[in-house]
Amino acid sequence: MATSPNPAGSQIVIDRVSHTYRPPRGREVLALDDISLEVRAQEFIALLGPSGCGKSTLLYLVGGFMPTRFGQILVDGRPVGGPGPDRGIVFQHFALFPWKTVRANVLYGLEKLGVERAERERRAQAYIDMVGLNGFEDSLPSQLSGGMKQRAAIARTLAIDPEILLMDEPFGALDAQTRSLMQTELLTIWRRSPKTVVFVTHDVHEAVYLAQRVVVMSARPGRVKAIIETGVDHADPDVAKSRPFLDKVDEIWGLVRDEALAVERRRGA
Ligand SMILES: Nc1ncnc2c1ncn2[C@@H]1O[C@H](COP(=O)(O)OP(=O)(O)O)[C@@H](O)[C@H]1O
Ligand SMILES: [Mg+2]
Repeated sequence: MATSPNPAGSQIVIDRVSHTYRPPRGREVLALDDISLEVRAQEFIALLGPSGCGKSTLLYLVGGFMPTRFGQILVDGRPVGGPGPDRGIVFQHFALFPWKTVRANVLYGLEKLGVERAERERRAQAYIDMVGLNGFEDSLPSQLSGGMKQRAAIARTLAIDPEILLMDEPFGALDAQTRSLMQTELLTIWRRSPKTVVFVTHDVHEAVYLAQRVVVMSARPGRVKAIIETGVDHADPDVAKSRPFLDKVDEIWGLVRDEALAVERRRGA
């Protein structure tokens, strides 16, 4: 797919975007309020904020799963008009076809893209190997652990080779050990085949460990509260034990804490 370079040099431009949900019954919810953000090509950015602050909403708007009614979102200089193979998405709850094997799940997107059969098989196997699911090609999702399901979902998304990877708390449902393993592997994959990654999380440690910049969002309605360069050397396997890393986690946790407290107070009220 041709990419037209845009003057700002940003691959994703989110320009004064607001979003209101209007459920058929019940109250309107202002989920996002005047969000502006630019993401560079091949940048790894984390969206961090308490539950309900609109992280998923923003990701779905960039993904084109819902129309942007207020403000504008440009990808490679063009307004987002719907989902496209340039943007792959990974959800928290795997979203695999339960009746398809791992291989068939990974092949699915390639078939839809019209990739020729031999190439399809080759690519599917390469990504299954890359995420460490070699030997599980013929398993059904129900036969896999949570971590393995998420590996399969990631392989399926990577196989279509999107320039942009949108990840919505992809490791949120995993146990701590598996999560840590998956984080390290995601960084390895990102270094091997650089992509623009927008990674949603409510975990400060995860955000600092993965991202070059962390966007801290305020409690509902979601606004951009701060954008912080992590300055972390993501190639250093021991980085999470280093002083600068821990200081950065502290600094960002300080910003997030007020927002988390705002949510708690609202719940208590
Ligand atoms: N389909 C919907 N209808 C009405 N309200 C919604 C809908 N989806 C999300 N919301 C509300 O919008 C706000 C932001 O939701 P969401 O983007 O899922 O937040 P996050 O991903 O940060 O937890 C929340 O208050 C949520 O309850
Ligand atoms: Mg969410």
